[in-house]
Amino acid sequence: MDNHGQSIQQYTERRRLVLFPLPLQGHINPMIQLANILHDKGFNITIIHTKYSCPNLSNYPHFTLHLIPDGISASEVSTTELASVLKLLEDRCIGPFRDILSQLSSDDSIACIITDAIWYFTQEVADNLKIPRIVLRTSSVGSFLAYAAMPLLQDKGYLSMKDSEMDEPVVEFPPLKVRDIPRFETHDPERVNQYLVKIVEATKKASGIIFNTFKELEETELAKLGEEFTVPAFPIGPFHKYFSASSSSLWTQDRTSISWLDAQATKSVIYVSFGSVATMHEEKLNEVAWGLANSEQPFLWVVRPGLVHGSEWLEILSKEFLELISKRGYIVKWAPQQEVLSHPAIGGFWTHSGWNSTLESICEGVPMICSQFYGDQMVNSRYMNDTWKIGIKLEKGLERVEIETAIRKLMVGKEGEDVRRNIMSLKEKLDHSPKPGGSSYQSLDNLVDFITSFRTPV
Ligand code: UDX
Repeated sequence: MDNHGQSIQQYTERRRLVLFPLPLQGHINPMIQLANILHDKGFNITIIHTKYSCPNLSNYPHFTLHLIPDGISASEVSTTELASVLKLLEDRCIGPFRDILSQLSSDDSIACIITDAIWYFTQEVADNLKIPRIVLRTSSVGSFLAYAAMPLLQDKGYLSMKDSEMDEPVVEFPPLKVRDIPRFETHDPERVNQYLVKIVEATKKASGIIFNTFKELEETELAKLGEEFTVPAFPIGPFHKYFSASSSSLWTQDRTSISWLDAQATKSVIYVSFGSVATMHEEKLNEVAWGLANSEQPFLWVVRPGLVHGSEWLEILSKEFLELISKRGYIVKWAPQQEVLSHPAIGGFWTHSGWNSTLESICEGVPMICSQFYGDQMVNSRYMNDTWKIGIKLEKGLERVEIETAIRKLMVGKEGEDVRRNIMSLKEKLDHSPKPGGSSYQSLDNLVDFITSFRTPV
């Protein structure tokens, strides 16, 4: 680029983007993928990252990196609920982020910043420095609209409904039932709801929103978003169609899972993973274990250290269980998930309905069993079961009989065939989306033009 003539240099000078991911695996992956996508489009990329949960930086020699010395220790976050972790991150990041961005902004090649929707405070920092901010919302449009609707749902009394009313429909928000309204494990739900309001309000003030989704999947929700938000939206996903998430994995991906799969029959294995954040109590892990064992289907199960409150890893699983499943099951701490999902032996995915996992499964045409632990997962799993019909939702939480029945239905039942057919047809639409003529391809072009338009005439 340095060899280009004067006028092109003036054009390229404002093509630096500053990206700031939320340091959780499900948010880092899409932000790093987006960074790669935009780098491929000719932008220079600067990443601001917390020292806490920073992926291996040597994988990104093509990016400029600035680390925030947040001083957060693993022990500080392992004992706290997610809402408190977010507050801790905000408190430690806001000052350093402002300082780094203000330093960077003296170089006027910055076109805009792109920050995670959850980093709502970055909007004010950007406004003060007169730098446009584009939001990356890493989850579905449907779940974002549900977050935006929380004050309305609270006013209508949905948040205080009784246990016996959990299956009532949310008439203002189909297909949700009362039990699907986003909730978080917290001792202070009001504080979390206020947090959501701040996220939504800051997003409304942003210059644009990028979604890791595609139009064919969320056409109705994108139309609704257009009615409620004036901010332009760019559904350019799924990002991992362009770049794999493996380079930003925070944990070592156990490749023995692939060699174990190599020895299994085609479409015979159910892959089980609950993402990077979800936690459960010991008795629930046992429900999962016995549901898997009783289904009598082969399984590959990711048990993340820390998944169970107060346990190291597998020590709470009984000898009886481990012996029973030794020929049929394989347990790892962390897997190369995208590669696992694309393996011919995989016939189903029991997921926590995190958005990256959902998209990765659609991409490979793998039908799902859908659990949900908190937040957007509750909305995603309802959409998968009721709207897209690409998954079987566990309505009772983690309960061994329902688990066993759902696994059999998915892997060897008639219902599984229907779900598989639906996801294969969605996969075809998704395959086309990032290609020339496809919706995400067009949307990405629009995004590039939009960012380029931020430059002031010289
Ligand atoms: C979080 C939230 O929980 C989720 O609801 C939200 O949509 C995004 O942020 P997480 O729970 O980690 O994310 O789930 P998910 O969005 O599915 O992301 C997990 C990522 O980790 C995926 O990209 C997946 O491929 C990767 N992964 C998971 C692995 O690489 N190996 C594993 O063993 C499990």
